[in-house]
Amino acid sequence: MLKPNKLGNKNFLSSLDMSTEEVLHILKLAKQLKNKELNIELKNKVLGLIFNKSSTRTRVSFQVAMSRLGGTTIDLNPTTSQIGRGEPIKDTARVLSRYCDIIAIRTFSHSDLEEYSKWSAKPVINALTDLEHPCQALADFLTIKEEFLDFKNVVLTFIGDGNNVANSIILCGALLGVEVRIACPKGYEPNSSIIKKALEIYKDKNLLKITNDPHSAVSGANVLYTDVWSSMGEENLKENKDKDFNGFTIDRNLVKKADKEAIILHCLPAYRSKEITDEIIDSNKSRIFDQAENRMHSQQALLACLLS
Ligand code: CP
Ligand code: NVA
Repeated sequence: MLKPNKLGNKNFLSSLDMSTEEVLHILKLAKQLKNKELNIELKNKVLGLIFNKSSTRTRVSFQVAMSRLGGTTIDLNPTTSQIGRGEPIKDTARVLSRYCDIIAIRTFSHSDLEEYSKWSAKPVINALTDLEHPCQALADFLTIKEEFLDFKNVVLTFIGDGNNVANSIILCGALLGVEVRIACPKGYEPNSSIIKKALEIYKDKNLLKITNDPHSAVSGANVLYTDVWSSMGEENLKENKDKDFNGFTIDRNLVKKADKEAIILHCLPAYRSKEITDEIIDSNKSRIFDQAENRMHSQQALLACLLS
C-alpha cells in the first residue's frame, strides 16, 4: 500500500519546493485518499491557519483535510489575534511553532511568507501569496490527471492575468513536462523570474509559450483555465484591468477553437461574465467543481507528506 513519503523540503512555499517525483507521489496519494483506498492517521496533529486575505476553499479544504486525518486546525483571524496589531512575524512564527505542528499562511507579499518560514521551527505551507498559489496547482494537476490519466500530450492554456495562479501552473507544469500556454494582454505577462525558473526545468523549452493572442493559444488545447483579472489586493486596478482584458473571456467562441474534448478549469471564486461566461462555467466541459473538491484531497496528501 502507498505510504506518505517525507518531502525533501521542510516547507511548501513554492511549487518548486517539490521534485517531479514528489508531485507525482502527492497526486497518487491524493487519488487513493479520494477513492477511500487509503487511510492516513495524523492523530492529535494541529495545523495553524493564518489568513491575511479572504478564503473559502483554501480555509475549508484545509480544515476538512486535517479533520479527516484525525488532526485539528486553529484558524487565526488577524483581527482577533495580535497579528492584525502588527506583532512582528518573527515573534508570531516562533510562538506558533511551540503550539502547532504545521502552519498554512495566506498573505500578500511572498517575502512575508519566507520570513515566517525562516523563524518557524515547524513546516510552513503557502496558502496563497501575490506570487504563487502552489496548493491550487496540486489540485489543478490532480483534476487534469483524472481526466487524461497522464500528462503526455496535454496542452494547458491559461487565459487571463499572469498572476499567482498562472505562476504556479507554469512551475508545476514545468515539473510535470506539460505544455503550458499563457495568453494575457500586453503588460500582464507572468513574473519574469518564474518564467526563467520554468525554462530551466523544461527539457523542451518550446513547451512554455507566452502570447497576447488568446485565439492562437487555445487552438487544439486540452485544458482551458482562467482566473479573475484583478486579484485580492488589486481592487483599485479593477476598472482599468476590466478594459485591458476585453477579448480575454472564456466564452463559447473561444471554447470552439480548443480540442473538442477540452475541459475547463477555474480556481474560483469567479466573476461570472467577466473572465468566463455563465454558460461555460456550468457546461458539461467544466471540471471546476471537481477541481475545487480536489483541493481537499491533494492537501490531505500534502499534510501527510509534510508531517510524516
Ligand atoms: N481557489 C482558492 O484559493 O479559493 P479561496 O480564495 O476561496 O480559498
Ligand atoms: N488570483 C486570485 C486567486 C484567488 C484564489 C487572487 O489572488 O485573488
